[in-house]
Amino acid sequence: MFCKFVALALFISGFCSTVFSQTQAVDSEGHQWWQHAVFYEIYPRSFMDSNNDGIGDLNGIASKLDYLKSLGVDAIWITPCYPSPQVDFGYDVSDYENIDPMYGTLADFDRLQQEAKTHGIRIIMDFVLNHSSDQHAWFIDSRSSRTSAKRDWYMWHDGKGSAEPNNWVSTFGGSAWTMDFKTGQYYYHYFYPQQPDLNWRNPAVHDAMFDVTRWWYKRGVAGFRLDAVDTLFEDPELRDNPVLPGLNKYGDPNETDLYNTKLPEVHVVLRDLRKVADENNAVLIGETWTKDVNELKQYYGDHSNELQMPMDFMFTKVDRLSPPEFRRQIAAVDSAGGWPVFVLSNHDIVRSYVRYGDGQNNQAIAKLMAALYLTLRGTPIMYYGEEIGMQNTDPVRKEDVKDPIGRVGWPQEKGRDGERTPMQWDDSPNAGFTRGTPWLPVPLIYKTVNVASELKDPSSILNVYRSLLALRHQNRALLDGDYVALNENDPNVLSYLRRYKNEAVLVVLNMSSQPQQVSFDLAPQGFDGKTARSLLTTMATGSQAGSVSHLSLEPFSVYIGAVSK
Ligand code: NOJ
Repeated sequence: MFCKFVALALFISGFCSTVFSQTQAVDSEGHQWWQHAVFYEIYPRSFMDSNNDGIGDLNGIASKLDYLKSLGVDAIWITPCYPSPQVDFGYDVSDYENIDPMYGTLADFDRLQQEAKTHGIRIIMDFVLNHSSDQHAWFIDSRSSRTSAKRDWYMWHDGKGSAEPNNWVSTFGGSAWTMDFKTGQYYYHYFYPQQPDLNWRNPAVHDAMFDVTRWWYKRGVAGFRLDAVDTLFEDPELRDNPVLPGLNKYGDPNETDLYNTKLPEVHVVLRDLRKVADENNAVLIGETWTKDVNELKQYYGDHSNELQMPMDFMFTKVDRLSPPEFRRQIAAVDSAGGWPVFVLSNHDIVRSYVRYGDGQNNQAIAKLMAALYLTLRGTPIMYYGEEIGMQNTDPVRKEDVKDPIGRVGWPQEKGRDGERTPMQWDDSPNAGFTRGTPWLPVPLIYKTVNVASELKDPSSILNVYRSLLALRHQNRALLDGDYVALNENDPNVLSYLRRYKNEAVLVVLNMSSQPQQVSFDLAPQGFDGKTARSLLTTMATGSQAGSVSHLSLEPFSVYIGAVSK
C-alpha cells in the first residue's frame, strides 16, 4: 500500500515541472486561469488563529500557505472578513473597504495577498452585494429620516394598513419586513433584519458597489464570490408570493419566491460586473441556486458574458451515492454550455463526509467523492477540512448554538455551526487551531483526524486528495478533456472517460458496498487499447495496470487509468 502511494507521488512529481503556469491569463488553447485552478473555500473564523483569541484570522491563513500550496490549491475564496457586527458571521458587512479587527488589518491583507502571490495562489473575496449590515453608515443614514439622501439606498415601504407591505417571508424566518418606528416605514430584508437589502434600482447604489469591486481589484484580488445573487431585485409592484400548503421549519407559511428572487434585472448587473472583472483578469463565482439547466445557462449569460463560474450546487442536492443521479446531474451541467463548477459542501451545507458516508465505509466514500469531483471537466471548489474528512459536529443543546437560524429553527434547524468547526491541524489541544478558547468547540475526533497525522499515513483521505490534485494539475485529459459517460446503465459504478486529443483517462468509481466487475468497450471513443495504465487507485490490491475489458473493483473504490489509442 505504502509503495503504491509513494510510487504515485514520485510519478507525479516528475511531471510537476511541466505544469503550465497558473499565472498565465490564457494558455495556448484559450483556457483561462480559473479553468485550470483548484479553488478552496476558507471560513476565516475557523481556519487558523494566529493571536490566540479563539477566532481565526488573516495571519493564520498566511501561516498555512505552504500547506495549501503543497495540497494543490491555486485560489482561495475567503468568506467575508470585512468589518461586521457578526450577526451572520460576516455576511452583514458594515464597511466594504476594510478588514474587521478580529481578522487583522488591511496591512495584514496586503501581506497575505503578496505572500499568496509568491505561492502562486490567488485570492477571491466574498462580495455581499444583496444587503449590508444595519450598522453600515449607509443604512444608519438611510433610516435616520424619510428625507435622508440615502433613504432610497434601501427598500423602504409603507405598510398595508397595520400590516407588512406584502406576504414575503425572510429565508431566515419571520416576515421579510421590519418596521422602523422612528420613520414609520418598513424596510425589506431577505435574510436577518440586521441585513437590510440594498436597492439595486438606485444608480447610486450600483455605482458605489462597483467602486467596491474596483477598490479590491486594485489591491490585487483575482475575483469575487458573489453572495446571494438570486435575490438582488424585487418586484416593483411588491406582489404577494404564491403560498403553498404547510409551514416551513421556522413556522412560516411555505411560499414560492416568485416575486423576490431571480428577477431578470439580476442579469443586467451581472453583465456589468463581468465587464469590470474582465478588465482585471478576474473571475466571478456566483452563489446561484439554479433549479435546472435553463436557469444555469442564464447565469453564464447569452454570450458567456455573465458569470464564468455559477455554482449550481447540484452535487449538494444528491444526498446518496447514486450513479444514475450523478450521471444525470453531470450531463445536465455539461450541456449548459459554460464551464462547470463542482462543489461538495460549504459553510452553509452539511459536510460531504457525513452526507454520503454510510457510517461504516466513510473513509472510502470520502475518497470516492474526492475522485469524482476532482476528475470531472470543470473547476472544483473545495471546502476547508474536506481533504482530511472533517465531519459535521452539530450543537446538541440549543443554548450552545451560535448561528441564529439554529436558535430560531431549533430543533428542526440546528444552524450551520456543525460545518464550521475549527480546522484540525494536529493532535495538540484544540487541534492546533488556537491556544485560546475556540469560538466553536473542536470535535474530539481531531486526535486522529488531523493534517499532521494524515500526512504521515500514505492511504489517508488527505494523501488521496494530494495525489488527485497533483494528477489533475499535470494531466491534460483531466484538465481539458471532454466528458464521455460510459456504461450508462450501470446502477452501481459511475464511469467516464476524459478525452483529449490522443490521450484519455478512464475514471471508474464503485459507489456500491459490493465488489463489482466492469468491462468497457472504448473503441467507439477512438481508444482500442486493451489495458489502462494505472494513475491512481484506492484499492488495497491496486495493480499498475487494469484490463479495460475486465476490471475488478473493491467496494467504494476508485480506479483511474490512462488509456491509449
Ligand atoms: C449566503 C451565505 O453563504 C450565507 O452564509 C449567508 O448567511 C447568506 N448568503 C446571507 O448573506
